[in-house]
Amino acid sequence: MLRNLFITKPIAPAGHVDAGEPVEGSLEGEITLKRTLTAKQLFLLGVGAIIGAGIFVMTGTAAANYAGPAVILSFVIAGTACAFAGLCYAEFAAMLPVSGSAYSYAYTTLGELVAWFIGWTLVLEYLLAASTVAVGWSGYMNSFLGTLGMAIPDVLSSAPLDMVQGSIQMTGSLINLPAVLIVAAITGLVYVGISQSAWVNAIIVTIKVVVILLFLAFGLQYVNPENWVPFIPDRVIDADGTSHYGIQGVIRASAVVFFAYIGFDAVSTAAGEAKNPQRDMPIGILGSLVFCTILYIAMAAALTGMMPYSELGTAKPVATALQNYPDLLWLKTVVELGAIAGLSSVILVMLMGQPRIFYSMAKDGLMPSMFGKVHPTHRTPYIGTVIVGVVAAAMAGLFPISFLGDLVSMGTLLAFATVCIGVLILRSTRPDIRRPFRVPAAIIICPLGAAACLYLFWQPFMEHWHLMVGWTAIGMSIYVFYGYRHSRLRKRS
Ligand code: ALA
Repeated sequence: MLRNLFITKPIAPAGHVDAGEPVEGSLEGEITLKRTLTAKQLFLLGVGAIIGAGIFVMTGTAAANYAGPAVILSFVIAGTACAFAGLCYAEFAAMLPVSGSAYSYAYTTLGELVAWFIGWTLVLEYLLAASTVAVGWSGYMNSFLGTLGMAIPDVLSSAPLDMVQGSIQMTGSLINLPAVLIVAAITGLVYVGISQSAWVNAIIVTIKVVVILLFLAFGLQYVNPENWVPFIPDRVIDADGTSHYGIQGVIRASAVVFFAYIGFDAVSTAAGEAKNPQRDMPIGILGSLVFCTILYIAMAAALTGMMPYSELGTAKPVATALQNYPDLLWLKTVVELGAIAGLSSVILVMLMGQPRIFYSMAKDGLMPSMFGKVHPTHRTPYIGTVIVGVVAAAMAGLFPISFLGDLVSMGTLLAFATVCIGVLILRSTRPDIRRPFRVPAAIIICPLGAAACLYLFWQPFMEHWHLMVGWTAIGMSIYVFYGYRHSRLRKRS
């Protein structure tokens, strides 16, 4: 029984994969995903997924509530943990160019049960992140429409359900319509094709990076270094025991801003559609991560330098920082437009990633086979795309999912830790496999990466453990009643 649960999927030593070559699990004559993505497109997909609500929304609260100006350090800490994980993703994605990302890597190293668990936690990352960011998008969009005098009334632009002390209650609103519409529109795009999606993503990324560079170019001129003193404010403990600032605050803020880095790993879900994954996967994953880390640290420095950290705890900290300076009011509208564009590319890449992970799971028999069907013309996993889009739209339309940000981070951090451990395991069980990219000093980097991710995981887990346990229980039930019985690998062996 135990051997069955921890059965690992054998990997064929990776040969070179060429454009147009079929990907994993393809049977003869079966339609498969298409290899079209270049290194540049993979880099842009990474940047598209990374820069979003994390920097445009969460940096402000992380600084105001937990770290003060030392949120800059929090970005360095979270960025370092991600760099370690990113190196491990790069090794796996170049060696095993399939669409299942951490799920597939876990299947080859830690066995089926862990693979299922990671696949299930990735739903938190991809599907829920798409819904969470869609709600953020709706807020930005509606406030922008408000400046044009066209705001959508609350009853049609906020969540009808709310979670009050663990029970669901009605708010009086009907639906968060903008959130539903953006998910529906992006699902349509993802359905039509990977190349079209990558093309739209490239345009959006260009807009948001230009906006951020403008913010830095003008914002940094208005920095008052006195706002950086004290750099780490003294620790404060509230009457309810909540702790703020101090070193602990900096660490807690790292777990919050970790959300801002999520997405570089989404590049690995496109490995089955990359023209030259052996060379381009590390470029896409690590290139986008390094680029965004530099931008983030500069943004955090500019934001905390432009105004006292205690005033940054708003839903739009970047716009808030600009509001103080009449000369920069024009830039505030530009930043709002940049955020609207920026958030939509995060939704796009997340909605691309989730069906591709389900695709891999379906190929292994752990999900119903309809998730493994590829559209004859568009060459996309179309049924999975529609199902993921409908669920993500429903979640975005019904729930105030702000509290799910931590859940998204927890799911992602577990996946990252698994990938770090997986690299070490595979180095010892299959040293023979050709590795086009190798984590340097893996014996140090991999354990450090896993430990850093688990430590960051622990921060929100202490507050939301019941949600995580509930999610795991649902996932395990599905595995017991479906996955375990249909696993192709176990049937074969
Ligand atoms: N990193 C993505 C964001 O910040 C998920 O929105």
